[in-house]
Amino acid sequence: MNPHVQHDETLRPTSGQTAGHHAKLLGAKLREIASVVYSPSEVKTLRRFTSGEVARILGVTDGRIRQLSPELLVSKHEVGPGGRRLYTLADVHALRAHLGEIDRVGRQYLPHRDAERGEHLQVVACVNFKGGSGKTTTAAHLAQSLVLRGYRVLAIDLDPQASLSTLFGVRPDNELAPYPTIYDAIRYGAERRPMREVIRQTYFTGLDLVAADLELEVFEFEAPMAAARRKATDLEPPFFARIALALEEVEADYDVVVVDCPPRLGYLTIAALCASTALLITIHPQMIDVGSMRQFLTMMDEIMEPVREQGAAPTHDWFRYLVTRFEPQDTPQTEVVAMLRGLFGDHVLSKAMLQSAAVSNSGLRGQTIYETPLRRDEVTGSTYRRALDALDNVNGEIEDLIRKAWGRS
Ligand SMILES: Nc1ncnc2c1ncn2[C@@H]1O[C@H](COP(=O)(O)OP(=O)(O)OP(=O)(O)O)[C@@H](O)[C@H]1O
Ligand SMILES: [Mg+2]
Repeated sequence: MNPHVQHDETLRPTSGQTAGHHAKLLGAKLREIASVVYSPSEVKTLRRFTSGEVARILGVTDGRIRQLSPELLVSKHEVGPGGRRLYTLADVHALRAHLGEIDRVGRQYLPHRDAERGEHLQVVACVNFKGGSGKTTTAAHLAQSLVLRGYRVLAIDLDPQASLSTLFGVRPDNELAPYPTIYDAIRYGAERRPMREVIRQTYFTGLDLVAADLELEVFEFEAPMAAARRKATDLEPPFFARIALALEEVEADYDVVVVDCPPRLGYLTIAALCASTALLITIHPQMIDVGSMRQFLTMMDEIMEPVREQGAAPTHDWFRYLVTRFEPQDTPQTEVVAMLRGLFGDHVLSKAMLQSAAVSNSGLRGQTIYETPLRRDEVTGSTYRRALDALDNVNGEIEDLIRKAWGRS
C-alpha cells in the first residue's frame, strides 16, 4: 500500500459494492445495445427479407419469387428503400409450401421427415468443454439454417449461462417472471412439467426454443443424489434418460433438435449425449484447444462407460468435429486442421467455419448472421458474403448427414 495516500476505510467501497455498481453500468450498456434488435416492447423481432434473399433461401431465381402471387403472402404489405416488397419469414414458409404444392415432381421444397418411413427425429448435440469453441454460435446458426431449409426445428439451451436463449430473444436478466426451462421438464418429482409446456415459439418463425437459466444448475446436484438413492425398481427414470424421455413427448412435432451444451461434462451434458442421435464437437484449431479436447474425449469415454452399464444405449448416427473460427491464412491453424484430418479422417467435417468479423459483430448485437442485414459501416459486402457462404457450406454438410441418417440420398 502507498504510505503517502490516506485511506478512509469507511469510504472505500467493498468489492461487493464495486461489483454491484459495475453490474448496473453493464446492465445499462447491454440494454442500450439490445435496443437495436428489440422492439420498444422488449420483444426480439426479425427483420424482413428482400426478394433476392428469399430467392437465395428457397433456391429459386429472384424473378420467380416476384412472379408468385402476392395473395400467397401472409404479412402486411411493406416495401424496402428501393420500393420493392419485403418478405417476412412466415411469407418465406408460405411461398415454400406453395412451391412444394405446384412442383411435386421437381426438387423437394418441403423436406419434413416421414416417421412412417422410419425417418427418426435427429437430435444434434453441440459439445466440447473448451469454453468459447463456438458451440452456441454453431448451434444457433445450424438451428436457423435448418428452419430456412424448411425443417421443423427445436433448439434446446442446456447451458445455465443461457447464451443461446439470449441470442434467441429470452434474456434472463430482463424477464419479469420466471420462465420455464428444460429443468422443468427433466426435474425429479411431482413438479416436473410436460415438455410441451416448456417449449416456446420464437420471433424466428418455425424455430421453437427451450430456454435456460441458472436454475439448470440444480439438476447438477439433484441428479447425483437421485442416482445414489436409486433402486432398480424405481419408477423415476435415471438422470441420463430424462432428456430423451422429455423429447419423446414432442417428437412428432419436429424434424431436428439442436442442443447447445454447457462447457463441461456434467450431468446435463451426459443426459444430452444419451438423448442425441448425432454429436458435433466444435474445435477451434489451436494446440491448447486440441489438448483440452483430448481430455474431453477421454472423460467422455470414461463417463459413458458406467452410464452404459446402467442401461443407457445411445446410438449416434454420426459423430463429427467441426473446425470453428478458422483462419486459413494462419499457418499454425492450418497445421492443426491437417493434423486433425490426418488423425480422424472423415470424422472432421470437410467444411470449416471461418473466423469472421461479420459473425462476431452480429454476435455483439445479439444476432446471428441469418438475421443481420449487411451493415456497410461494419463489414464489407464480401466479408458478409464470405461468412454467409461458410455457414451455408457447413450447415449444408450437416443437412446431408441428417438426410443420410434418414436413408435419403
Ligand atoms: N466464426 C466466428 N467468427 C468470429 N467470431 C466467432 C465465430 N464463432 C464464434 N465467435 C465468437 O466467439 C465467441 C465464443 O463463441 P460461442 O459463444 O459460440 O462459444 P461457446 O463454445 O458456446 O462458449 P461457451 O463455452 O462459453 O458456451 C463469441 O463471442 C462469438 O461471437
Ligand atoms: Mg455457449
